[in-house]
Amino acid sequence: MSQKKEVRIGLIGTGFMGRTHSNGYKRIGDFFPDLAYRPVLKAVCARSKDKVQAFAEQWGYESTETDWKAVINRKDIDAVDICTPNDTHAEIAIAAAAAGKMILCEKPLSRNLAEGQKMVDAIKKAGVRNTVWYNYRRLPAVSLAKQLVDSGKLGKIYHYRANFLQDWTISADVPQGGTGTWRMDVEAAGSGVTGDLLAHCIDTAMWLNGGIKDVSAVTETFVKQRMHQLTGKVEPVGIDDACIFHCHFDNGSLGLFESTRYARGHKALYTFEINGANASIRWDLHDLNRLEYFDHRDESIVRGWRSIHVTDGDQPYMNKWWVPGLGIGYEHSFIHQAADFMKSLETGEPCHPTFEDALETQKVCEAVIDSARSRSWKDTGVAWQEK
Ligand SMILES: NC(=O)c1ccc[n+]([C@@H]2O[C@H](COP(=O)([O-])OP(=O)(O)OC[C@H]3O[C@@H](n4cnc5c(N)ncnc54)[C@H](O)[C@@H]3O)[C@@H](O)[C@H]2O)c1
Repeated sequence: MSQKKEVRIGLIGTGFMGRTHSNGYKRIGDFFPDLAYRPVLKAVCARSKDKVQAFAEQWGYESTETDWKAVINRKDIDAVDICTPNDTHAEIAIAAAAAGKMILCEKPLSRNLAEGQKMVDAIKKAGVRNTVWYNYRRLPAVSLAKQLVDSGKLGKIYHYRANFLQDWTISADVPQGGTGTWRMDVEAAGSGVTGDLLAHCIDTAMWLNGGIKDVSAVTETFVKQRMHQLTGKVEPVGIDDACIFHCHFDNGSLGLFESTRYARGHKALYTFEINGANASIRWDLHDLNRLEYFDHRDESIVRGWRSIHVTDGDQPYMNKWWVPGLGIGYEHSFIHQAADFMKSLETGEPCHPTFEDALETQKVCEAVIDSARSRSWKDTGVAWQEK
């Protein structure tokens, strides 16, 4: 029998993220065998009885619920994992905190800053362990970028540039609201690409390059009206279809961020580049095992961009996987976060990004939307401390 301590998971939401998280919990026992804690797939919740039953059988959950409140009230659940649309995060997280559960919440933390603040107040009051699934940090090449920046190799940083480009909403026939297209409905999502895609870029950016001080943004809603799946009526679209902002970081560098769902040909092109006085790095989600690195201090005749294949055992997370030269995938970022959460229970350290860290990202998102609306620069109020 395993001597590991159990963390009994109650997963809420069985869509895209319900699958990535379930896969994460299932894999860590095999690939992170030294962890003192192990997740147990105790309960899964979705509103449809048939669908939740099928999901439980496929992924190996012990039991099912059709009301998330039942998960929170269960004594045999230690941690609640929120994989539902953004408009449900606050209510579920606040109730879970009051019930003393650990909380793993999908990003963005909330639809807006006020909601996010209530969530942070609730977890602080309850003193419960928490994390937010800004998973891209835990891809080995992105973690290596952090290592390089922290080592000072880049020198003084001047520029941070990020894009997150998609093309799935160009047709005016894509509806808003309801299952599958809740992201198009401002009530459910809170915002468009700002909270959905740029939030990832902002989280990574502040983790790598420190706090974002102020922003100037422009947003656009290209298709102004769409059929709402819940009302059956054509209604105004309240989300930002595209957003571009520039900003100052606390360290004096300039940031430039762009996101859209109207970049034909791009499905999920997340890229970032950092330019320092000595060196630059860049990363592309479509080639996620590679980190590009340019060092001006190299001998001039061989100076150039190197493409580092981040698959070696001494690079982040890679000693858990195969042999040097063999890559891993998108799903591993969730496996790593699940493992890091379990490890944090052992060490007592926070599992970043915590709710408090994610609230800082929420502050930037709020300032971006405010700036675009008012056509003016906005201070973010970010006080970035996380290491
Ligand atoms: N970390 C990432 O890279 C990433 C990627 C995609 C989505 N997300 C986030 O994850 C969350 C879920 O997104 P998704 O893509 O999995 O959405 P999805 O539409 O695929 O799945 C949402 C699930 O929630 C269920 N649901 C909705 N309301 C519910 C309720 N009241 N009770 C129980 N279940 C309910 C739906 O039936 C569905 O199973 C969102 O907050 C989103 O922003 C994060």
